[in-house]
This record gives sequence, C-alpha cells and structure tokens, in this order.
Amino acid sequence: MKTIKVGLLGLGNIGTGTYKTLEMNKRQIESTTGVSIEITKILEKDVNRKRDITVTPQQFTQNPDDIFLDPSIDIVIELLGGIEPASTFMLKALQNKKHVVTANKAAVAANYDAFMDAAKENQVMFRYEASVGGGIPILNTLASDLLANEFEEILGIVNGTTNYILTQMTEYGLNYADVLKVAQEKGFAEADPTADVEGIDVANKLSILISLVFGIRVAPQEIPTAGISNISKEDIKLADQFGYKIKLLATAKKVGNQLEAHVQPAFVPKDHPLASVSNEFNAIFVTGNAVDDLMFYGKGAGPLPTGSAVMGDVIEISRAIAKGAAFDHYAETKAKKMLRYVGE
Ligand code: HSE
Repeated sequence: MKTIKVGLLGLGNIGTGTYKTLEMNKRQIESTTGVSIEITKILEKDVNRKRDITVTPQQFTQNPDDIFLDPSIDIVIELLGGIEPASTFMLKALQNKKHVVTANKAAVAANYDAFMDAAKENQVMFRYEASVGGGIPILNTLASDLLANEFEEILGIVNGTTNYILTQMTEYGLNYADVLKVAQEKGFAEADPTADVEGIDVANKLSILISLVFGIRVAPQEIPTAGISNISKEDIKLADQFGYKIKLLATAKKVGNQLEAHVQPAFVPKDHPLASVSNEFNAIFVTGNAVDDLMFYGKGAGPLPTGSAVMGDVIEISRAIAKGAAFDHYAETKAKKMLRYVGE
C-alpha cells in the first residue's frame, strides 16, 4: 500500500480534531482508497497539552523547515489560523512542491490569488474545503459537481458562533453577552470573538464563496459588513412577532454585470429553509440555472466536523498522488470563470 506522509502545522483544537478524524477512520480510509496516510511531523509549541490522541514526542518540531524541506512529506496541513505566519508558511510549502490543505478562511480570503498562482506554478494542489461551512462539503462541490450551472445568488449562514448565539437568544430569551460566554466555552468562537460577532469571519468566507461561485475576487474588506453585537433580545422578540428570525446572512447577488455582496443580520421569513438552521449549524443556499435550489446544511464549526473536511481534502490529494495525477483544477476553473465574467 502506498504511504503518503503529511506535515501538520498546528495541533490546537482543529489540529487535534483532524488528527483524531484520521485516527478514528484510518482503516476505513485505507481499505477504500488503497492509500495509507501518516501525519509524521507536527509544528506545535505546546507539546505537553493533554490531547485525546496518540502522538509521540518525536513527531513534534519547532522548526517549520523540518516540514517544508523534508522530501518524504507530500502534503502540508495548515491549521494555525490567522493570516500570518500561516500565509507565509503555506506559500513556502507550495514553493517546495508540497500540496497544501487548510481550514484558514482569513488567510485564504486575504491571499487567494497568491495561493492559486503558487499551486499552479509548482504543479501542486491547494485545497481549503474546511475554510467555509466547517464540515459541509460545499467548496469542492461548487468547483466540480456544480460547474454545469450559472448562479444568480448565494445566501449563507456560515458562522457557527453567531448562529448559536442568535438561536439561544431566540429560544431562551437570553442576553447576547451571556450566550457569547457559552459559545466560547463550547469552542465555537475564536480566541478573540471579534471576528465572529462583528461579521469579519463571515466576510472572509463570503469572499471565498464569491471566488468559486462567480469567478471574481472581492476582498473581505470590500464587503459591507455588520455583525450581531448590537442585536438585543427585544429585536429578536419583535422579529418573531412579525414572522421572522434574525440570522447573520452572507449574501452575494448578480445584478446585471455587477455583483452585490454584504454581510448583515437579516430578517429571514420563518418558512424559508434558512430560518430552521439553528445553533452551531451552518447552511449555504444557492440557486443554479440548471439544478435549481440547493441547500447545504451541517456543522459549521468544531474540531471533528472541521477535521472531516480537512481530511477529505487530504484524501483527495493522496489518491491523486497515488494515481500520479495531482493537478489543481481549481486554478484552471478560476481562470476560465474570470475570462467569462470580465466579458459580460
Ligand atoms: N469561529 C468559526 C465559527 C469557526 O464560529 O463558525 C469556523 O470557521
């Protein structure tokens, strides 16, 4: 059986969830794909933290070059979070001809073109399924199975923390601040919850979705963004009386040859499928001109759901390596869509 060796950058919550996903399902993955995936080196300072996985001290390193310059490593998984040093590390990995998988929406949204170009130039794959919608298989689906469609609009609930907060405020009449604390304890919210509650995390994810759905780059900072920190339980009660739920929505809509995009709390009619998406669940609602309405629903945050999406990318790349066909069709997809869009 072919062994694919993987270097992991970061063994925090998501890193541990990814490692555990592989550990739990290793035999099944091997029997289905005929490939054995081994995480051989891990860049992580906190080696002594108690984790519910089997990891040896020899796997840890403090020097990222031990991963980038190791010729036996084919794939680098980046789970450090934040734009830097994660972006520099991923570019370095791509330049050293490592395939890269990440869950890092901030880094992907900030440096999308640089990653795509580096992947193309070095003939390696760059995958980021886990960066939007956690465990929901949305990005690879948009980039492959749904390519036969044109999309007019995309609507998404793509932040688990804020959806959890709004749901708890709605269902139990609780205050924003009290529920935020619980969301952090549950590990949905980032260490600094500002990015979640002010909509910045959603703008990053919407920027990534726009690249795939509409083939144009819109930087997260260009998207008008409002979060939920000013929403009171009274606002929610009022919305309820008029037949709506308040949701933090990511929206992008083609209007003629222009794209309108924003992130804001919105009144969603209670009979719309997005109104039933509660707690840390996410959903992305798209309407294709062939397939019609689709809603992708699942856990948008948390170590194992995110680990599932990360490992899905690692498995896809591993299979491609084993077949000798590791090639980045995302980069090709982007180039084609850009040309068509500019022409409109
Ligand atoms: N903090 C993010 C969320 C994690 O709450 O959805 C997943 O991107």
